[in-house]
Amino acid sequence: MNRRTFLTGAAAAAVVASIGKAGAAEHATDGLPAQNLFYTKENPGRWEKKAGTHVPHIEIVDGNVKLSTPHPMSEEHFIVRHTLLLADGTVVGAKTFTPKDSPISEYALPDGYKGKVFGTSFCNQHDFWLVEAKV
Ligand SMILES: [Fe+2]
Repeated sequence: MNRRTFLTGAAAAAVVASIGKAGAAEHATDGLPAQNLFYTKENPGRWEKKAGTHVPHIEIVDGNVKLSTPHPMSEEHFIVRHTLLLADGTVVGAKTFTPKDSPISEYALPDGYKGKVFGTSFCNQHDFWLVEAKV
C-alpha cells in the first residue's frame, strides 16, 4: 500500500471518525501516530508555517459544501486532492486536481444531514490537512 492509497482508504476514514473536538495531536488510537499523520490549523505539526495556505476553507450553504485551498498551483507544487466526509467516515465525494486546476470542490450533503463534516486537502509537498465544521 503506498501513501496515497493509505490516505484515501479506510484508514483515513477511521482517522477522521476518531478525531473528536481538538484535532489530531491528542487523539492517537488503534496504533496510529499521535502527530504528523495529518495536520490542522490547531495542530500543524512539522508544517507550522504552512497552515495558512494548506488548511482547506469550508463553506456550507443550504446543504452544499464548498472546499477551497488558498494554495498556489504549479507543476512542482500543488494541491492533489480534496475529500469531504461525514462524521461516521462516509465519503461524500472527492476531487483530484492537476497543477492547472484551481483547488476548489463542491459537494451536496445527504438530505437533512446534521452533524460534523470533515474536509481534507492533500499537498504534494506538505501532506494531508483537515478542517472540521458542523452543519
Ligand atoms: Fe504545499
